[in-house]
Amino acid sequence: MNDFQLTRTLDEHAAETALRTDVHDGLTRSPKSLPPKWFYDARGSELFEEITRLPEYYPTRAEREILLERAREIASVSGARTLVELGSGSSEKTRHLIEALPALDTYIPVDVSESALTGAAKILLEEHPGLRVHALLADFTRALRLPDSPGPRLVVFLGGTIGNLLPPERAVFLADVRAMLSPGDALLMGTDLVKDPAVLVSAYDDAQGVTAEFNGNVLSVVNRELGADFHTADFAHVAVWNREHEWIEMRLRARRQVVVKVRALDLEVPFEAGEEILTEISAKFRQDGVRKELASAGLELTHWWTDAAGRFALSLSVADGIGTDGWEGTPGSSGAADRDTGTGSASTAA
Ligand code: SAH
Ligand code: AVI
Repeated sequence: MNDFQLTRTLDEHAAETALRTDVHDGLTRSPKSLPPKWFYDARGSELFEEITRLPEYYPTRAEREILLERAREIASVSGARTLVELGSGSSEKTRHLIEALPALDTYIPVDVSESALTGAAKILLEEHPGLRVHALLADFTRALRLPDSPGPRLVVFLGGTIGNLLPPERAVFLADVRAMLSPGDALLMGTDLVKDPAVLVSAYDDAQGVTAEFNGNVLSVVNRELGADFHTADFAHVAVWNREHEWIEMRLRARRQVVVKVRALDLEVPFEAGEEILTEISAKFRQDGVRKELASAGLELTHWWTDAAGRFALSLSVADGIGTDGWEGTPGSSGAADRDTGTGSASTAA
C-alpha cells in the first residue's frame, strides 16, 4: 500500500485515559451511561457491518440509494480534490462518491477504529491505485488537524452518526466542522428521519440479536481494557423510542442485582435488578431541524435529498454566505434546498 499513511492523533495511552474517565464518570452517575464510541473495537466494527445488512436496519440501504442517485450531482457541485470522511467505518458507501469525483487526489478517513481504517484503505487502494489515502485515527468530537491536501474539500459524515451525539455535542461538532471549511468546501451529512416508532424500534432490536450483541460489546471492551468483570449475559439489550426527544435509546438492563468490579479503576459498581446503562442515543431528524442546527453553526443548507421512501436524508451545506464556487452568495441562492429534492414521490420527513 504505497499511498497509505495512518496518523494516530490518539496514542494508546490517551485512548486508555479517555476510556478510564468515561467509564468512571458514566458508571458512577445516575442514571448510568457509557459513550457510544466505545462500541467500536475490531469486533464492534464487524458487528456494525453485520447490522448494516440486517433486513430491519434500513438506514444504510436508504443512504446508499441516495448516494447512487446523487453522486454525480454532488461531485459536480463540490468538485472536490480532497474527501474527508468523519466516522468512515468500512467506507463502503463512500466508494460511490470516490468513483464520481474525477479530480479526487486525497481521501482522509477519520475513525476511532483502527481495524476499520486499515480494512477500508486496503480495499480502496486496490480499486483506485492513484488515490492517496491518509487515515486519521482520531476522535471526531475533538478539533481535528487535517493533513495538507489540495482543495476544494468535501467533508462527509454518513450513516446518521450525527444522531449519536447529544444536541449540545452536535452544536460543538458542527461548529468545529464549520471551522474546517474554506470557501469552495462543503459538508455532506446523512441524517435518519423521524418515522413510525415501530419501524425504528425494530431497526434497533433485530430478530437475529445482532444489535443486542453490538450493544453488549461495550461491556466486553471495558472488561478487556480495564479488567472489569461484567458478565454480558447479566444485561439485556433494550431499544426504546423517546418521543419527546425523537431519538432511539439503546440501553443495557441488569437482569438481576449485581456488583461489577472495574480493576483498573479500583471501582465497584452496584446494579439494582432492572437498572440500566444508557449506551447510545440515535436521534432522528426533520428537514427544518437539520437546517436550524446547521444554521446555528454557521452552515447554510443548500441541498436536501431523500430516498424514494423518505426514510433518510443527505444534506449538503456550505459555510454561511459562501457558495461551493467560493463566491459570496445570497443565502439560498442555489435554491435547491428550498424545493423538495427527494429522489422519489414520498420524499420528505414526517
Ligand atoms: N460512516 C459509516 C460507519 C458508521 S458507524 C457508515 O455510514 O456506514 C460509526 C463509525 O464512527 C464507526 O466506524 C465508529 O468507529 C466511528 N466513530 C464513532 N464515534 C467516533 C468518534 N467519536 N470519533 C471518530 N470515530 C467515531
Ligand atoms: C453509527 N450509527 C449511526 C448507528 C445508528 O443507527 O445510530 C449505530 C447503531 N446502533 C445500533 N445500530 C446501529
